[in-house]
Amino acid sequence: MDVKLKPFSRSFFNTLSGKEAVLDPDRFEFTEYRTILVNGEKAGVVGMIFPKGDRSWGAIQIALEPRFRGKGLLQACEDMLASELKVYNLYATIEKENIHSINSHKRAGFRMLSEVDLKKIRKQGFLKESQVRLYKRLDNG
Ligand SMILES: CC(C)(COP(=O)(O)OP(=O)(O)OC[C@H]1O[C@@H](n2cnc3c(N)ncnc32)[C@H](O)[C@@H]1OP(=O)(O)O)[C@@H](O)C(=O)NCCC(=O)NCCS
Repeated sequence: MDVKLKPFSRSFFNTLSGKEAVLDPDRFEFTEYRTILVNGEKAGVVGMIFPKGDRSWGAIQIALEPRFRGKGLLQACEDMLASELKVYNLYATIEKENIHSINSHKRAGFRMLSEVDLKKIRKQGFLKESQVRLYKRLDNG
């Protein structure tokens, strides 16, 4: 499989099935989104949202067209974007019911935040009751 990240295409994103599961980059100020190309075909979107003035970590977003799911593209694309941007601390906020995404992120090396931390950030208003958050630290070597 030839996998490449290309500049974000708004028109493709608008037609992407599963885009509701990712945050729309237009709603945020500091973002880096890409269109995923697999063997020359537009397969999905991967992106990162940053807090203001801080690129030490990013909130990762990904959605793939159904026919490109189940092939391990999540890990390949998220790692490609992280290394391109040199961002080695990733967070993924996922709806509890999105079991495929939680499983896939765990397979890609993400770990669930502890119950104590999840409770704390929910109380601070940074995480909905319906969501969980996972974390991954990439090797920058
Ligand atoms: C979540 C998502 C990005 C996972 O990417 P992926 O590259 O398919 O991940 P994997 O190859 O590791 O497979 C993930 C799971 O999907 C399953 N799967 C396989 N083919 C599939 C298909 N055609 N459609 C849906 N799921 C499929 C796999 O069996 C695996 O199941 P598991 O829960 O038993 O582990 C992808 O399913 C997707 O785009 N979903 C819609 C958008 C979304 O939910 N984004 C995440 C927001 S947090």
